[in-house]
Amino acid sequence: MEHSSWKKFPESFLWGSASAAYQIEGAWNEDGKGPSVWDLYSKIPGTTYKGTNGDVAVDHYHRYKEDVQLMAEMGLKAYRFSIAWSRIYPLGRGEVNEKGLQFYDNLIDELLEKGIEPIITIYHWDVPQALMDAYGAWESREIIEDFDRYCVTLYKRFGDRVKLWVTLNEQNIFIGLGYRAGIHPPGVRDVKRMHQANHIANLANARAIQTFRNHVPDGKIGPSFAYSPIYPLDCHPGNILASENAEELMNHWWMDVYAWGRYPRIMWSYLQEQGVAPDLEEGDLELLAAAKPDFMGVNYYQTTTVSHNPLDGIGEGAMNTTGRKGTSQDSGVPGIFRTNRNPYLETTNWDWTIDPVGLRVGLRRIANRYRLPVLVTENGLGEFDTLEPDDMVNDDYRIAYLQRHIEQIQGAISDGVEVLGYCTWSFTDLLSWLNGYQKRYGFVYVNRDEEGEKDLRRIRKKSFYWYRDVIRQNGLSRQSG
Ligand code: BG6
Repeated sequence: MEHSSWKKFPESFLWGSASAAYQIEGAWNEDGKGPSVWDLYSKIPGTTYKGTNGDVAVDHYHRYKEDVQLMAEMGLKAYRFSIAWSRIYPLGRGEVNEKGLQFYDNLIDELLEKGIEPIITIYHWDVPQALMDAYGAWESREIIEDFDRYCVTLYKRFGDRVKLWVTLNEQNIFIGLGYRAGIHPPGVRDVKRMHQANHIANLANARAIQTFRNHVPDGKIGPSFAYSPIYPLDCHPGNILASENAEELMNHWWMDVYAWGRYPRIMWSYLQEQGVAPDLEEGDLELLAAAKPDFMGVNYYQTTTVSHNPLDGIGEGAMNTTGRKGTSQDSGVPGIFRTNRNPYLETTNWDWTIDPVGLRVGLRRIANRYRLPVLVTENGLGEFDTLEPDDMVNDDYRIAYLQRHIEQIQGAISDGVEVLGYCTWSFTDLLSWLNGYQKRYGFVYVNRDEEGEKDLRRIRKKSFYWYRDVIRQNGLSRQSG
């Protein structure tokens, strides 16, 4: 869609940036924190790039004041961070750890003092190991109560100051990689178990939203979904059908539940036929339907281009976790769809497609289908950066990437989508779960690598100053029409 002039970003637009506890905090066993599944999983040989883990990460736990000071210098309007469940409840339930609450209290106060709106992600993949040991975490309905108790503790403690909340970060990813691909904890490869765990996570998400209304009535809450809009490879009807399959199985399967509390019909029928549909209990669908999010949080990195995949076609393909371009493989679900390289789009060194227009497509699809405002909770470029003499990092490629995505957000706003804000991934460099430290996303370079922590010093990249100017101008100085 073309417009003779584009709408401006609203004055209230939240120019933000995001992070997650395990990827930045470190201090994995300090001040009473219990172990999370990632603390153990990352230490199993062969699970992560060069055996990296978050024991120290970028040491945000001890350097949060310096990090917030940098955010203030940039003029950041919002900062999205996650809370480590096992810092609050070291065993997932039972005794609360006051020191854990205190850390986030301090962080929130520091942000507010600098005029930065805190956005809390309640869960970013680090379920307490104790709950995995006790009942298999997301595979047991017991987690619904435990998660709700954890949420209530956070609502009561921080709800007076924090008004924007994200429930589960990328349920589709932690469930898909944890129970189908088997490359995140608990490393299971079982589609039936995956769908069951996913259904339980849906219920926990719904309960958390319902409870939120009682504790933070003036707040807003929603999930963050990893949305990769689907494109058909071409107009061959078989490929169109495959793209409809993929949009439904990979996207609507989650977002329909969040927004409407019901699973898509065609895929439900397919999963039943396969014997892998989740087992529903009385009251489940009522709970899902009753809990309405205030917005759809969207983590956007790339689109997925698909075509027909026969019943004896391809399945799970390998991921590129090394940064050696061209080493990832296509993947698919036999009989449903398979992925393909999009001939029109460039890729990163980790083979992630770069597609700014795809973000606009995704935002429009959500706005039309669910009639919800959207908060872009993540978007960014993971690349190698070079630390040059005099502490310079000339990341023009990151600036170009972000600029093109911001343009398309403005396009989406001009098309009529309500976008609440834009959180880049990430503020500082951090640990990329499976890809080590060399895949950098931040505006702030952190001087460490896979081999060691060096001095962990913070260095402003060129993109730091660029984003500061974007925020000051409330948008881009140059814009398309
Ligand atoms: C999202 C996650 O999937 O993408 C982040 O919410 C993650 O935690 C980000 O770091 C980028 O992915 P990766 O694999 O490059 O770290």
